Parts: sequence; C-alpha cells; structure tokens
Amino acid sequence: MALLFYSLSDSQPDWTSAIAKVMPGERLRIWPEIGAPEDIEFAIVWKPPPGLLASLPNLKGILSLGAGIDHLVSDPQLPRHLPLVRLIDPSLTAQMSEYVVMNVLRHHRFMPQYAQQQAAALWKPLLPPPLTAERRVGVMGLGVLGRDALAKLAAFGFRLRGWARTAHDIPGVDCFHGAAGLTEFLAGCDILICLLPLSPATRGILNAQRLALLPKGASLINAARGAHVIAADLIAALDSGHLAAATLDVFDPEPLPPDHPLWRHPAVTVTPHAAGWTIPETAAGLMAASIAAIRRGAAPVGLVDLSVGY
Ligand code: GLV
Repeated sequence: MALLFYSLSDSQPDWTSAIAKVMPGERLRIWPEIGAPEDIEFAIVWKPPPGLLASLPNLKGILSLGAGIDHLVSDPQLPRHLPLVRLIDPSLTAQMSEYVVMNVLRHHRFMPQYAQQQAAALWKPLLPPPLTAERRVGVMGLGVLGRDALAKLAAFGFRLRGWARTAHDIPGVDCFHGAAGLTEFLAGCDILICLLPLSPATRGILNAQRLALLPKGASLINAARGAHVIAADLIAALDSGHLAAATLDVFDPEPLPPDHPLWRHPAVTVTPHAAGWTIPETAAGLMAASIAAIRRGAAPVGLVDLSVGY
C-alpha cells in the first residue's frame, strides 16, 4: 500500500524527506506519478482536482495539508464516508496567532491610518491611542485557532469577545453564539477578526448588513477564507467611512486579480494568503499519528464532522 501526496503549492522534495523520516515504512507516490490507484491507502492533499480521491478504490483516509478542508468538501465526488482530517499543528496555530496579534496591534495603534498619512506626507499624530482595556477585540471562530489568538491577545489586556456557531465558555472572553448572538457580538467589536471555517453557513457571513452592525470606525482582519466576506460590501463600508481599515490575507478568488480594487484601496492591507504555512517537519509527524489512529480504528486529532462542515 502507498501514500499519495498532492499539492501544487507545497515543496515536494521537503515533504518527501519529512515523510521518509517519520514514516520510513510507507511508500510515497507524488501526483501525477501515482502508480496503480488501488495501491493508495491514504491521501495527503491540498486542493486536489475534483474526482481524484474518488478514483482511489482502497483509500482509507484523507489528510488535509492545511487547517481548512473547504478545498476538499468542494469536490462533488469527495468520498464522504472516509475519515477526513484537518491539520491541527501547533506550529501553524502559532503562525496564525502571530498574524492576528501583529495586525490587532497595527489596527489598535492606527498603523493603517498612518500609512495613508505617510502617502500624503501628512504629519498628524493620532494621540492618545486608546488603552487596550478600552479596545474591544472580537474573534469569529472559537476553535483551536480562535482560542489561541484570544489567549495571546489577553496578554495585552484587550477587552475580548468571541462568537461561534455553538456556545463556548472561555475565561476572560465574552462569548456569543448562533444567529441570535451575532448581532450583539458584532455591535461590540472595535477590531473584528475572522478565523471561521468556510461552510455553507459561514459563506458571505460578513455582508453589508453585518458590517453595518460594527461600531463606526471599526476594522476587520480576515485570516480565514476570502468567501467569508462580500468584498464589494467591505469596500462600500470602507468608502463610506463606517469602517476605518481592513487587513486581508484571503480572497475569493486567489490569487487576487491584479485589477481588483482591494489591491489599491488606501484603507486595505493585502497579504497573499501567507498568514500561516504548513511546515513539513512538524506536520508530517502529526499525519503519521493520524494514519496510525485510522489504521487502529481510532478517531484522529482533527477528524472532520462533515455534518457541520469542519
Ligand atoms: C490555509 O489556508 C489552511 O487551511 O491551513
């Protein structure tokens, strides 16, 4: 039996050596050299072409190379009866929290506004900056990523709130949930961070109506998926002055087309889906553990519940 590796954006040599180190007994097939499809027992994948996984008759499990699994669920032929595992890797979580903390501090200390002032050679101190104890920071998505980001933001003394589909209890964080809790949650976010999984329930969740619920002068950081935000609605909210700034790592589509208005909007900071990156040295060991768990009939860490979509 063999492992299939499919990704056009991860380094195949780095993954080959990382897998050889932690799973020396496994035969690795790197797409498109997959050999006999019936040999493939596990697939380690990022954005595989639709139908590829369904063409592997003896597949026992699917491992995402990223935290998200929307790139798999979008395949209409996904073998939904098989265990599907998203990557929960402390090194990826740490990178995501670095991105969140860096940008919350940027927004908190008016760096997007200073970038606009610099472009106009405008010397205008925005002082005093509010105390962190007065700045309300809200995280949408209270899974591993959201909780880690909140724990790290807590060290700065921000007023923290969180929202998720289901109820959570996190010390030091005002938690809201469900459709009913979303209005009150958004109304109290000076800085809103999106770390949600992308599912039919969260696609387009940040639309004109919801952005309007944010307090005037609020800002948005999206490190989840571009499709969570209706880009035209975000641009309208920035243009009207209701929102002060946005920092976006994810877009719909990606890469962001060169002529897209978000590239050149003065209140928008763009990063090219680079907030977090899967590191083979750490992720391969976690995948070995997932494969071992599935082989012995146990639930691997990060097993996706397809009925809720993450
Ligand atoms: C990246 O976007 C990931 O899902 O890990």
